[in-house]
Parts: sequence; C-alpha cells; structure tokens
Amino acid sequence: MLFPLALLAAAPTALACLGYTGGVPKPTGNVALKAPIYVKAGQVYDGGWRKFDRNPSTCNGQGEGGEDDTAFVVERGGTLRNVIIGKTAGEGVYCKGGGCNLEFVWFEDVCEDAISIKDDRPGDVTNIIGGGAYHASDKVIQHNGCGRVNIINFYAEDYGKVYRSCGTCQKCAREVYVEGVTARKGGEVVGITKSNGDKATLVNVCTDAKTPCQNYSGPGKKDGAC
Ligand SMILES: *[C@@H]1O[C@H](CO)[C@@H](O)[C@H](O)[C@H]1NC(C)=O
Repeated sequence: MLFPLALLAAAPTALACLGYTGGVPKPTGNVALKAPIYVKAGQVYDGGWRKFDRNPSTCNGQGEGGEDDTAFVVERGGTLRNVIIGKTAGEGVYCKGGGCNLEFVWFEDVCEDAISIKDDRPGDVTNIIGGGAYHASDKVIQHNGCGRVNIINFYAEDYGKVYRSCGTCQKCAREVYVEGVTARKGGEVVGITKSNGDKATLVNVCTDAKTPCQNYSGPGKKDGAC
C-alpha cells in the first residue's frame, strides 16, 4: 500500500516527544499532616523529597474543598520545593495572593485540584517549575486570581485540564505561559475564556491532546480552539 510520504514522516516525529513518561520521585520519607503547612512570604520550604499526606484524609472525590483541606498554603512570595503530595490531600497546594513559586512539586494522584492560585492581582507572576501530576479527573491547576501563571517543564498524565482559568470568578484577563510541558493521555492543556481577555501562550508543548488550547464561552461551554 502507498501512503503519502508526508504522513509517514510526520506521525512518528509528532509522537516522539511523548517518550518522556515522567515518574514521581521515590519519597525519602513520609509525613502525615493534621493541618496544612503555611509557607510565608519570602520563606523557602524544601521538603527534601518527602511525601506529604493528610491524616485523616481530606479527599472527598470531586467535592469542592477549602484551604483547610490542603497540604500546603504558599503565601504571596513564598517558595515550596521538592515535595510529593499524596492522594489524601483533598486540595493539594494553594498559592494565596499570587507570586508564589512551586518548584518540583509532584502529585501522585490528584483529588479535587492539585494547585489553586487565588487572589493574585494583575502584574503578579506565579511560577510552577518542574514537577507534575497524575490522575486529575478534572483540573490540575486552577487559576482564580487575575495575574499570570508560568508553567515550565511540568508533566501531566491522565488529566482533564492541566490549567483552567476560572470562568465564574471575578471577571478579569488571566494569562498563562506554558513551556516545555509534556501532557499525556488527558483532555486539554489549557482552558481559557477569551471573551474575558484571557491569554495563553504554548511553547514546545508535547501532547497528544486533540485541542491543546480550548476556548470557553462559559463554564463547561467550549467555543473552539484558542
Ligand atoms: C472564544 O469564545 C468567545 C466567547 O464565546 C467567542 O466570541 C470567540 O469567537 C471564541 N473564539 C476565539 C478564537 O476567540
């Protein structure tokens, strides 16, 4: 059988980048939290590759939780690095006030959301560098405030959306910049609401997603690619 040469050449190249299959780091120890750990402005919390769980579990499926259900709350200007978050942490990590840095934060099995960015203002920049997340039935990163989120060299597998700008929060233009991210076996890499002024930039994103950037006209209402 004869195939057009272009097709034969294009298919393997496009999928070759999916050879990177992530891998949650092996924990150096386990920590059971009764309450979230707060990382304050200017503080750096280095978890030393320990795994953090909530005991008792605060994971209630897709039921919306709150700050009390997180493993970490990183306040404006704080840095959290080198941690593994276990599946018992209902709300994962909150970045409160924007401008926080999450470096090499891994989620073995996302409960409701992995990372929620709240109360950031225009001009605030939140950096999510390295790390990754598995099994997020809906969102990995939920952006409620009005700043910018950089997602660099992150890994996602089996997810609904890697990033979603809030469609029902305060109306403002949210910005997301995604570079060097691998996203496999999921829904969409970013979901934004262009009519709010949201802006997404995807650079060197390796994915098998049908619509890497999805435009929404309202919550759950898809309106073409962005
Ligand atoms: C995105 O959604 C908005 C609102 O429904 C719509 O006006 C716009 O045409 C859509 N597509 C693009 C590419 O902006």
